[in-house]
Amino acid sequence: MPKKSKDNKNASNRALSNAKQAKQDEFYTQLVDISAEVRHYRSQFKEKIVLCNCDDPYESNFFRYFALNFRELKLKKLIATSYTKSPIAGGHLPLVDIEGLKPESKEPYAIEINDVPDHNGDGAIDLADVEYLLKHEANAAHTLKGEAGFNAGDFRTQECIEYLKSADIVVTNPPFSLFREFIAQLIEYDKKFLVIGNLNAVHYSEIFRLFKENKLWLGESIHSGDREFRVPDHYPLEAAGTRVDEAGNKYIRVKGVRWFTNMDNPNRHELLPLYKSYTPEEYPTYINLDAIEVSATSDIPADYDGLMGVPDSFMDKFNPDQFELIGIPFGNLGKEIGVTRNHRGRTDIAFSQNGKIKSPYSRLIIKRRH
Ligand SMILES: C[S@@+](CC[C@H](N)C(=O)[O-])C[C@H]1O[C@@H](n2cnc3c(N)ncnc32)[C@H](O)[C@@H]1O
Repeated sequence: MPKKSKDNKNASNRALSNAKQAKQDEFYTQLVDISAEVRHYRSQFKEKIVLCNCDDPYESNFFRYFALNFRELKLKKLIATSYTKSPIAGGHLPLVDIEGLKPESKEPYAIEINDVPDHNGDGAIDLADVEYLLKHEANAAHTLKGEAGFNAGDFRTQECIEYLKSADIVVTNPPFSLFREFIAQLIEYDKKFLVIGNLNAVHYSEIFRLFKENKLWLGESIHSGDREFRVPDHYPLEAAGTRVDEAGNKYIRVKGVRWFTNMDNPNRHELLPLYKSYTPEEYPTYINLDAIEVSATSDIPADYDGLMGVPDSFMDKFNPDQFELIGIPFGNLGKEIGVTRNHRGRTDIAFSQNGKIKSPYSRLIIKRRH
């Protein structure tokens, strides 16, 4: 038996680990959440090519939303690419038999759509028109092959990158395990995007840097609470905030969900009203960084010019004209901004209050601009 070359072995290991990761990434976005965000950017979609590149047209609400609103948004083209076998049998849209493709076996494929006319003439563009289109636009769909180290439909494959290059705006909920790579690729190819992720991602140094450089900000519609996602039937529903609907579909509520974008929106230009005054008693200084602890964004003092540690939810109010992002005060990233060792010998910020030393769970270091 021929020996596998090292490269081949690495490639197949990578494909395997990609597949394993993908299994934990199956969270399907609800139509209502997509529509609540996209409506803030309507004019920016005019004459644009939209790519949904983690989206099986038969089940993705992203595809469904843009197909249903194709004319309304005056889109030029909609492209969707799917990834490996989809675990949601049936999907949101009825399965149809596209010639040359086998939707029932769900091979990864790409679909390009140039219009969604009112085929049945009932005066409205609805799912029946989208279904008709999927059935009859076989020429605009083709299977994806994949390449060494990457499964078919992986956004990192050359064939998917070609779709990316042709697109103006990417809108999707990508696998969270690949969030950094996904955003980095969008920046590399200079694309506009509206992408769902988790606020935790702010702590990735690459993502934080993009926020700092004003190349990335949060969207308009989600700033608190949790959001419900549909999950595959085999997902265990152990956590609180789960639900099964009448049809047996499973849903999980996820905290910290946010839209990440580089499309302009009103939120990022709003000034946060500051009404409190600094006192050393109310705002202790960290024992290992010259910055004050501000435990709620609404309590940021109006008259403090130095560094401040604020909760991650500050990002919901971040206006780059009002504040400057400085850094993340934990571990190696903490070292970079001058955090010295705390009482536990770690470079995580800590402060003393009522005779006790406390280490906040999560903080970002910011500064007011003048
Ligand atoms: C969080 S789910 C969201 C699916 C869909 N975008 C939605 O919001 O309903 C992420 C999807 O990305 C797909 N996926 C996983 N790894 C991928 C990759 N490397 N390239 C492209 N898609 C991937 C998964 O199959 C999964 O369906």
